[in-house]
Amino acid sequence: MKLGLQGKAVFVTAGSQGIGLAAARAFHAEGAQVAICARSESSLAEAEALMPGCLALRADLTVADEVERACAAVLDRLVRVDVLVNNAGGPRAGAFDELTDGDWDQAVNLTLMSAIRATRAVLPGMRANRWGRIINISSYGTKQPVPGLTLSNSVRMAVLGWAKTLSTQVAADNILVNTVCPGWTRTARLEKVLGHGDPEQASAAEREVAADIPLGRFAEAEEVANLVVFLASEAASYITGTSIAVDGGITKGYA
Ligand SMILES: NC(=O)c1ccc[n+]([C@@H]2O[C@H](COP(=O)([O-])OP(=O)(O)OC[C@H]3O[C@@H](n4cnc5c(N)ncnc54)[C@H](OP(=O)(O)O)[C@@H]3O)[C@@H](O)[C@H]2O)c1
Repeated sequence: MKLGLQGKAVFVTAGSQGIGLAAARAFHAEGAQVAICARSESSLAEAEALMPGCLALRADLTVADEVERACAAVLDRLVRVDVLVNNAGGPRAGAFDELTDGDWDQAVNLTLMSAIRATRAVLPGMRANRWGRIINISSYGTKQPVPGLTLSNSVRMAVLGWAKTLSTQVAADNILVNTVCPGWTRTARLEKVLGHGDPEQASAAEREVAADIPLGRFAEAEEVANLVVFLASEAASYITGTSIAVDGGITKGYA
């Protein structure tokens, strides 16, 4: 299958670790020009070392100015963005009663507004080129709520509504908008969260969660990245306005 990604300009936000990094590396391996952003200089430097020629920018996706500045820097260096991958960290966990207005604002800025702001910045160029791919990284929590993830379960549905609506407004310009919904995916952060710093506790917690996953294990970040790359490719030219789970079958409904 020809993916046609050689030379494409790809911006993966929150691309220094986990699923974002796996996607950025997969695009880099396909010969794309890759840009990433994140907050930590050290993880950006590590990611840059894995992808020679990659543009790695410091930006906090919850801050409007920083998203706009990062997008302007990418457009300045790569001239255009053909593929935008809207990724970010996840909003904090917590039951409804524990959450303040500040938590909700933070989650909306991180999960929804970051995607809207980055998309707004790159869309004019995609329209002018009559080619573009916008891919949001979400969660299987949009297919069935994940217990305790009130913010994530709520705000990610807004991303789906926005993405579906946008897909109808940009289809005539040959711009495709889709959302990838990972299930449990092994990343450094997840291991830390599950094990509270103890690798043995992390493996025990993983075994317990994996018992509920039909495929019986967590995903590797690369398995999620494979779908992101496919959706960005020429091979996915008739797929838009949809959201696809990469969840090992954990979603119980007809996702
Ligand atoms: N892993 C899973 O099991 C799983 C399952 C379902 C959904 N998801 C979702 O998939 C997305 C990626 O998850 P992941 O597991 O790959 O996360 P991860 O391994 O923790 O990586 C998160 C990335 O986002 C960056 N980031 C976080 N907050 C940021 C901010 N405010 N501004 C800029 N960059 C920021 C991090 O870099 P810095 O910290 O340096 O900024 C890092 O590069 C998240 O939305 C997550 O909720 C993950």
